[in-house]
Amino acid sequence: MCGIVAYVGPKDATPFLLEGLARLEYRGYDSAGVAVTGRTGGLKVRKVKGRVADLAADVPARFKGTTGIGHTRWATHGVPSDANAHPHLDGTERIAVVHNGIIENADELRLRLTVDGAVFRSETDSEVLAHLIAAHCGEGVELEDAVRAALGKVVGTYGLAVLDAGQPDRVVVARNGSPIVLGIGEKEMFAASDVSALVRYTRQVVHLEDGELATVRADGFRTSTEDARTTHRRPSTVDWEMDSYDTGGYDHFLLKEIHEQPGSVERTLSGRLDERFATAHLGGLNLDARELREIRRVKILGCGSAHYAGEMGAQLIEELARIPAHSEPASEFRYRNPVVEADTLYIAVSQSGETYDTLAAVQEVKRKGGRVLGVVNTVGSAIARECDGGIYLHAGPEISVASTKAFTSTVVAFALLALHLGRIHDLSPADGRRIVSALKALPGQIREVLAQSDAIAELAAGYADSAGMMFIGRVRGYPVAREGAQKLKEISYVHAEAYPASELKHGPLALISADLPTVALVPDDELLDKNLTTLGEIKARSGRIVAIAHRRPDARLADHCVLVPKSEPELDPLLLNIPLQLLAYHAAVALKRDVDKPRNLAKSVTVE
Ligand code: AGP
Repeated sequence: MCGIVAYVGPKDATPFLLEGLARLEYRGYDSAGVAVTGRTGGLKVRKVKGRVADLAADVPARFKGTTGIGHTRWATHGVPSDANAHPHLDGTERIAVVHNGIIENADELRLRLTVDGAVFRSETDSEVLAHLIAAHCGEGVELEDAVRAALGKVVGTYGLAVLDAGQPDRVVVARNGSPIVLGIGEKEMFAASDVSALVRYTRQVVHLEDGELATVRADGFRTSTEDARTTHRRPSTVDWEMDSYDTGGYDHFLLKEIHEQPGSVERTLSGRLDERFATAHLGGLNLDARELREIRRVKILGCGSAHYAGEMGAQLIEELARIPAHSEPASEFRYRNPVVEADTLYIAVSQSGETYDTLAAVQEVKRKGGRVLGVVNTVGSAIARECDGGIYLHAGPEISVASTKAFTSTVVAFALLALHLGRIHDLSPADGRRIVSALKALPGQIREVLAQSDAIAELAAGYADSAGMMFIGRVRGYPVAREGAQKLKEISYVHAEAYPASELKHGPLALISADLPTVALVPDDELLDKNLTTLGEIKARSGRIVAIAHRRPDARLADHCVLVPKSEPELDPLLLNIPLQLLAYHAAVALKRDVDKPRNLAKSVTVE
């Protein structure tokens, strides 16, 4: 949520800042800004409401400097506007600050700074940082010390970068709850809130820890704690490929990421299946078989699609390992003073590894002595580091705001965990082999579904102008319905509601008419007859139906059907979900939506 970039070096900073911001735009995109300085002194600042392209068009050719910071914003405090865009400046226009996170005591600080003569130009909480840092920038004071002193007065979360026209050879960055990563170049240094802004320039990075600051100069960096103790950080190498950050010939990142799923699922499975013992190996759990046997319950915590993937995961764990499992939105869990039990295994799910609510839920569990594993895509992210162990997805970077390949890989990771737990408990070798073979077949089966993209596009165009859509599924199909409805809402803005098919007649059947089409999950499993009965009930009320099925239902029961290859029943939800991703994508395209950057949303929600 919001993106930060910074540059210090011999070159003109502006091209890097603008390109870096464009790469980070998926994190927030309602306004953008840059500030640069250099040996000639003084700050140059440009900021606009709108996209990074609007900013680039507004930056004149003479806008040059060898040290600079930039920001792309997702509004929390104050509407999207030029004034609320970052960087924010102090009154003398010496200090410029870009900030991700929330300053909780901003009102109180603003009041005190105003009494001292500061004049505020924006409605943001972030602006207090510029005035506060400037207030500590006395004669001969190092910028890092001024930033440290200012942060000592701040309550809240931040990832920030600070520029000082009086000390133009450096940028000071700091992290507390919102990521900052340094990029090490040849006689030049970079910083950003996300490695995706850096990979074109360097693979050598240092992830700051919470509570750390760094002074970054062209020839290196120095990291230290809030109480000014030097820390020693070794760079690590980013292994994600550069082409992960391009659309690679697809019209949108979303379509590319949907089509990447055979490969990303293969990577999630890679080296983890054990055919001899019909189980899965998960080296990162840091729990041996004896410890895993002691687990009496599993609680899964995630937000949005991560929660729905967790619902699928809970069903897999219950079915294969017969351990009671439940998924709960992390955003609710953290606020309800949850009972944390020693024999419950907590699992945090997050693609980005940054979602604040999920991180806070993990911290709540740990504070109460619970054990938390992470199912995370982003290596080294805050949630991954906070957990006691876990499973990395290896799905590759996911740029589009709507999650697709990471969602699928999360469910695959849960299938591996459920298989592992199952084989420690009572899952028979024969059933283990059944699941291992089904997992190996998934990439090829996903390809079969993706091959129907054009047909699904035609179908989507026919339904895109509906005022709303109902998504229904029974038991294993219900989380699929929830995720399908979420995807449609998110990127097409068509209202979508997900219901358990069994619950339809307890209320929502009243909504069914020719104007409200239904997407029904109809797997060929033990509940097929029940599902067909539900289709009949909808048809009796003139409802139109798109069935996602293994076998084409009678034409009187479904207006359209997308056929999906059959896996094992426990894994069927994974494949049934793929056509729903394509349906949402093509509906959004038909409606000319901004598919990769849907309105009001951002990729990772690092605020409460
Ligand atoms: C998914 O399409 C959504 N953009 C959203 O629900 C997302 O899954 C949620 O915010 C959690 O994100 P995370 O996986 O990065 O924690």
